[in-house]
Formats: sequence, structure tokens, C-alpha cells
Amino acid sequence: MAKRTLSRLFLSLALPAAVLAAPAQAAPDLERGRYLAEIMDCGGCHTRGVMLGKPDMALFLAGSEVGFHLPGLGIVYPPNLTPDAETGLGTWSEDDIIRAVRTGERPDGRILAPIMPWRSYAALTDEDSRDLAAYLKSLPPVTWREEPQMVGEGQKAPGPFLTVAMP
Ligand code: HEC
Repeated sequence: MAKRTLSRLFLSLALPAAVLAAPAQAAPDLERGRYLAEIMDCGGCHTRGVMLGKPDMALFLAGSEVGFHLPGLGIVYPPNLTPDAETGLGTWSEDDIIRAVRTGERPDGRILAPIMPWRSYAALTDEDSRDLAAYLKSLPPVTWREEPQMVGEGQKAPGPFLTVAMP
């Protein structure tokens, strides 16, 4: 009896200590997320005007009007990454964003064209991925209904594009 009380006492003391000792998941570092978005050049593709030499920084990461033509595949446009529920990533969880950035897989299962450099981003650490995804979620949402949508090879281009040769 005494033994049982003792072990119960031990348990009740040990539990909070274990909770305290567990590596607490630190709150995401939004400043580091911004820094990562900058050095990984997300804005170089996902911001209007950049590919025309006139970046519109008020629309940073809100999608590009210039697409990439991948011969044999079609034309893809860098989408709106701001958390707008209708035209951006508002309905994506942070895990959805991390999966797309590191494996190219969208929540609907489609694999992104490799011009989106997810093969290079596959090496991003868990912590950096979390900071990056949280940063995207913290952006002011921008609604962009006219954003050009991807088309298959041979279909009419909905907007300007660059043709790129992929290895
Ligand atoms: C070289 C240009 C380029 C760079 C750099 C780039 N992307 Fe992309 N990204 C694209 C293109 C093009 C697509 C659309 C591909 C498709 O639809 O198959 C895309 C798609 C995405 C998607 C899927 C969104 C959706 O609605 O389907 C996410 C998320 C994304 N990029 C995040 C990022 C992040 C975060 C960075 C920086 C770490 C980044 N991208 C850097 C070109 C780029």
C-alpha cells in the first residue's frame, strides 16, 4: 500500500518534470521565415512585375502574371502564396505548405512542375520549413481573381510566359 502511494507520488512529481523537460516546440520565428523566403527567392517568381523588371512589392508573394512554358508540358504560373482563402493559400495548413515546398505535392495530390524548385528545397530542415510556412501565413492576404491559370501544351496562353528548357 505504502509502496503504491509512493509510486503514485513519484508519478505525479515526475510527470510535470517530464513535460517541462520535453523540448518545447518553439514558436515559429517569422523574421527567419522572411529571411528564408528572401534568400530562397520565392519573390523572384511569385511576385507580380518581377519578371518584367518592375517588381510590385506591395503585392509581394501574391502571384505572378508571367508564367513558365515547359516544352511538352504546358505553361504554369507562380501562384498567389498569401493566405487569401479564395485565390491564395488561405485554406492550406502549414503542413500542406511544407509538403508542397519540400516534395512538390499539393493537397489535391498534383505534383508541381519542377520549375518550382521543390527538388532543391527538399533539404530544408523541419524548423526552417515551419518558420517559412508560418511567415507565409502571416502575410497580408491578397485576392487576385485574374491570376492566369495553368494550361496544357498547345493550349492558348492566358498571359505572358518565358520558355525554359528543363534538364
Ligand atoms: C523559379 C521560380 C520559382 C521559385 C524560385 C519559387 N517558386 Fe513556388 N512555384 C513556382 C511555379 C511556376 C509554381 C506553379 C507550378 C505548378 O502549378 O505546377 C509554384 C508553386 C508553388 C506552390 C504551390 C501553390 C499552389 O497554389 O499550387 C507553393 C506553396 C510554392 N510554389 C511556394 C514557394 C515558396 C515558399 C518559394 C520560396 C521558398 C517558392 N515557391 C519559390 C515557381 C517558383
